[in-house]
Amino acid sequence: MKLTGNTLLITGGATGIGLGMASAFLERGNRVAVCGRRQDVLEQAASSLPGLRTYRCDVRNADQRRALFEALCRDDLLPNVLVNNAARMRPYDLTDLDSDALEDVRGDVETNLLAPIELTSLFLPSLLERAGGVIVNVSSPGGVVPVANVPVYCASKAALRSFTRSLRYQLAGRVHVIEVYPPSVDTAMMSEVPLEMRSVESFTEGLMVHLASGKDEIWIGEGKWVRILDRVAPGWIFGLVNRATAGGSSSR
Ligand SMILES: NC(=O)c1ccc[n+]([C@@H]2O[C@H](COP(=O)([O-])OP(=O)(O)OC[C@H]3O[C@@H](n4cnc5c(N)ncnc54)[C@H](OP(=O)(O)O)[C@@H]3O)[C@@H](O)[C@H]2O)c1
Repeated sequence: MKLTGNTLLITGGATGIGLGMASAFLERGNRVAVCGRRQDVLEQAASSLPGLRTYRCDVRNADQRRALFEALCRDDLLPNVLVNNAARMRPYDLTDLDSDALEDVRGDVETNLLAPIELTSLFLPSLLERAGGVIVNVSSPGGVVPVANVPVYCASKAALRSFTRSLRYQLAGRVHVIEVYPPSVDTAMMSEVPLEMRSVESFTEGLMVHLASGKDEIWIGEGKWVRILDRVAPGWIFGLVNRATAGGSSSR
């Protein structure tokens, strides 16, 4: 994709990887809107990045998604690049799923899988009308090799991977559909995961190089090895990933 002259909507773009992408795209002469649920966090992001436009929106909520779409129309910010980045990751003990836990499970699937599908459907007509339409779905190596203590996160990212491949096939030649598989990046989502992390800035700089290269699937850092080893030694890499991540995970 081209890295300048776009209008982007980045869901969950007021923190972490989304904010890193927002910053990198603003620096390169793009117009960037982000959304999230927490007003104070959106305000912090806006004051740290001049030019950033922020919108309060829970992507799980159909009325709020529609209101976001209308606000972007009103502000002449309908994107040619939709980045489905918002997600949540929670640990579950699958031997003990009470009704509260099942409610959380539903919320995870709605955030990580249904919202990207619904946002795609909402924004697709306008993406198809514009030149240079791009959808970037932020997935996870956990969607390829599951991390057992965050089973719903990994299952929803695996489903997002499958959906994204079908979407690319259906939109071939009309909208470029890109999947991003970040390695371990130091963000709130990973605050309790006992792995070595790279900084958001270092991840984002690498990501921009890959985005410019026109690839469909972007794997960065150790994530690449997870994908390769899943093909040649799936049992071994599953064991290694789960031993390495034992004892951690977090989210809101
Ligand atoms: N960090 C890593 O190592 C890593 C590795 C692989 C993949 N990823 C992927 O990278 C993406 C970004 O994650 P991150 O690491 O940057 O974590 P993060 O800082 O926790 O970002 C998640 C963002 O999503 C927003 N969000 C969550 N639920 C939402 C909802 N219902 N509606 C709107 N916004 C919502 C959050 O804002 P509010 O809470 O204010 O709504 C937050 O800004 C995710 O897709 C994640 O799966 C991350």
